[in-house]
Amino acid sequence: MQLGVCYYPEQWPRTMWADDAKRMVELGITHVRIAEFAWSRMEPRAGEYVWNWLDEAVETLASAGLKIVLGTPTASPPKWLIDAHPDVLPVRADGTTWNFGSRRHYDIASDTYRRECLRIVDVMAARYGRHPSVIAWQTDNELGCHETVPSYSKAALQRFHGWLAKRYETIGQLNEAWGNVFWSMEYASFDAIELPNLTPTDANPIHLLDFRRFMSDEVASFHREQIDVLRRHAPDADMLHNFMGFFTTFDHYDFSADNAIDVAAWDSYPIARTESIALPEEQKARYARTAHPDVSAFDHDRYRGVGRGRFWVMEQQAGPVNWAPWNPVPAPGMVRLWAYEAFAHGAELVSYFRWRQCPYAQEQMHSGLNLPNNELSPGGMEVRRAAAEIAASDALSTLPAASPASVAVVFDYETQWMFEIQRHGKSFDYQTLAFDYYEALRELGLDVDIVSSKADLSAYRLVVVPSLAVVDHALVQQIERSHAQWVFGPRTGSKTREFAIPSNLAPGALQTVLPLQVLEVESLRASLQPSTSINGVDGIAIHWREHLRANGDAQVDAQFDDGWPAVIRQGTLRYVGAWLAHPLHRALLEQAALDAGLRVQALPEGLRTRRRGNVTFAFNFGPTGVDAPSPADASFVLGARRLNTGDVCAWIDNAAG
Ligand code: GAL
Repeated sequence: MQLGVCYYPEQWPRTMWADDAKRMVELGITHVRIAEFAWSRMEPRAGEYVWNWLDEAVETLASAGLKIVLGTPTASPPKWLIDAHPDVLPVRADGTTWNFGSRRHYDIASDTYRRECLRIVDVMAARYGRHPSVIAWQTDNELGCHETVPSYSKAALQRFHGWLAKRYETIGQLNEAWGNVFWSMEYASFDAIELPNLTPTDANPIHLLDFRRFMSDEVASFHREQIDVLRRHAPDADMLHNFMGFFTTFDHYDFSADNAIDVAAWDSYPIARTESIALPEEQKARYARTAHPDVSAFDHDRYRGVGRGRFWVMEQQAGPVNWAPWNPVPAPGMVRLWAYEAFAHGAELVSYFRWRQCPYAQEQMHSGLNLPNNELSPGGMEVRRAAAEIAASDALSTLPAASPASVAVVFDYETQWMFEIQRHGKSFDYQTLAFDYYEALRELGLDVDIVSSKADLSAYRLVVVPSLAVVDHALVQQIERSHAQWVFGPRTGSKTREFAIPSNLAPGALQTVLPLQVLEVESLRASLQPSTSINGVDGIAIHWREHLRANGDAQVDAQFDDGWPAVIRQGTLRYVGAWLAHPLHRALLEQAALDAGLRVQALPEGLRTRRRGNVTFAFNFGPTGVDAPSPADASFVLGARRLNTGDVCAWIDNAAG
């Protein structure tokens, strides 16, 4: 459990650096990330490199004993580069071009820009790659942030043509797969295809989907090109990228395949995230100062999977931020709690953003561990406390790696894209549905792994698939071999890879193991409320409902008031034909977990637990004090059973050994 911080030496006088480094170490910080926005200082004019300042910064931090994460500076190309190559600026869906003057103003498909990036990364990595204190490299910064993944430039179009030609081989096969006979959309050659923007009404959904697949691959290859250069110069360092919370614009499993990263790092801003996602207003109000109890955990569990077990928090909220609709000060204790929460979910490092609040420019309203006048901020004091606690405790400083959970939630990026392209009802959002299932599992005291549909699922006892647009043969085989309980949500198996309805109707290939068919689907305005009951819990369908027909031996487990099945089951497999209101999801998952032989423990509202090895952590996100569900003979290694708002405790379960 190590603590880090993000630091921008280029924003402060050199005379402050040594004292900054000393104070970081005194605070208990071991890692520092630098340089990811400093291109204009590394290369103030084309080809003129100035490294003395970065040499000095690296030496200052290293000689204080800090481990350094170096960021490549490609998220902020300097003005001279844009002036020399204006085609590097990205083109938006409405055909306009973004300007210089903030960050991420580049087209990820631009060959010119990729060449410039590889040049600066090569020079930088050659200089610092073998420095013993530079232990990790981060590519760019938050790829895709500020909606910068899709680019509608000429460069993107050209690369898209190549991508399509590789996927479909002949234009005839593309026309067939896309169904281009519809509305006379047939093309005579790959070159004739345009990008799917600026059409009077919807573009063909498969055109949109293939463009999203292509752009996702562009993000991965942009990162991969840098990684190949970095690994040559820094063979022993960890390679990473800092991903974002609730972010689905590219496929993170594809991105990370083939050792493209060693660690999945992500940036955690729980309060700002709670403000900006689709949550009921009363929950936003309830958790305004603590963040929703599952909002960080969801991404901790997701990125642990993306990183094949290894993950870091590269940027952790340390106080009020500047970019959400409202930016309250966190409740006392939260800055400390978020670090323990990340560690409980298996993080190796939690690094706070940022060392000191910058009094000028875009982020002057964003807090750090120090106020602009260099006094330790309230967040900074909490970090000092956490660092001291960890250092003083053998149990906390030697936690084992997170072991696999018994419950898996399958998350699929393409499903998000497909249902964004064709929502069918404006309130249908796949990630929100996945989060609702996740939340229900966590309320039942269960630890969860979030995994790809291609992961090996054989060790899980309960597998929850909130939805999965395309069910392929490989997954069906996994289900056939599995002894787990499975729950499939609505719209599972509703599409083919080519974005069409399966010829045997939804749920497509899933019918091999779970014989049912979806006859019709409907999206629900708030006034349409089909109701049902699951294990004595009454509730309604919201957003979405399907008309299901049970075939073969499949049984109707729950029914709506108008007679349509709500849940169809065969053996260990359940299909849910609606987006159920939360209490129904919870009742359903509780039953499935009990059928899987799992121990379920309904937690008080706002309380969450997470096990790492033989240590169980409990966190109180709620507005009132609660007791942690610790056994009578628990030995506490942190805090105590009674938890006020923002409190955390951890114990070793003696009975569990
Ligand atoms: C992140 C970004 C940082 C900083 C931070 C502010 O998205 O990586 O550079 O802008 O947000 O919260």
